Amino acid sequence: MKAIQKIRDEHRSISAVLHALKQLARDAQDARVKPDFAVFRAILHYIDQFPEQLHHPKENEYLFPSIVARVPKAQTLIDSLCAEHKEGERLIRELERALVLFEDSWPDGAPEFLKTVEAYADFHWKHMRKEEEQVLPLAERSLSERDWQAIDWAFDANNDPIAGVKERDFNTLFSRIVSLAPAPVGFAEPWRKSTA
Ligand SMILES: [Fe+2]
Ligand SMILES: [Fe+2]
Repeated sequence: MKAIQKIRDEHRSISAVLHALKQLARDAQDARVKPDFAVFRAILHYIDQFPEQLHHPKENEYLFPSIVARVPKAQTLIDSLCAEHKEGERLIRELERALVLFEDSWPDGAPEFLKTVEAYADFHWKHMRKEEEQVLPLAERSLSERDWQAIDWAFDANNDPIAGVKERDFNTLFSRIVSLAPAPVGFAEPWRKSTA
């Protein structure tokens, strides 16, 4: 069940980045301190690309269909998760718009940006919790060894050269966020008071 571990690991990565985003959006509430918008752009790029291009497709294409094949009554649950994947695509666009607006209007617009960030993070956390508490245990209970072999094979990045490259890109992007974010989120210097 390497695939289950991989999904859990990816949830942890997404969760860590959401925590960082929330913390930095809170830090950005002080109108005297200009945030480094590059770190917000890097974080949004990460949460846009990582779930959209790597995480959700694996769930949609490999894990979910196997569960429905074994447990047809799980269809409603799986449909709701697929709908949330689509809703997530819309919400990340909204978050990107909110960031552009905040950067253009800074120091105004900080509370609105924080509100959008919190709504997005809550949505994503609820979604991942639903998968962790309902879908993964169901998969562990109902899928056969053969099902797992097929899913694990599909999830193994070595079998998919494109996914392998993407995974490396995400690690690079994650390191970039850590290098851009001020402590305690990352290793960069604290944001300085604006002299403007
Ligand atoms: Fe998902
Ligand atoms: Fe997930």
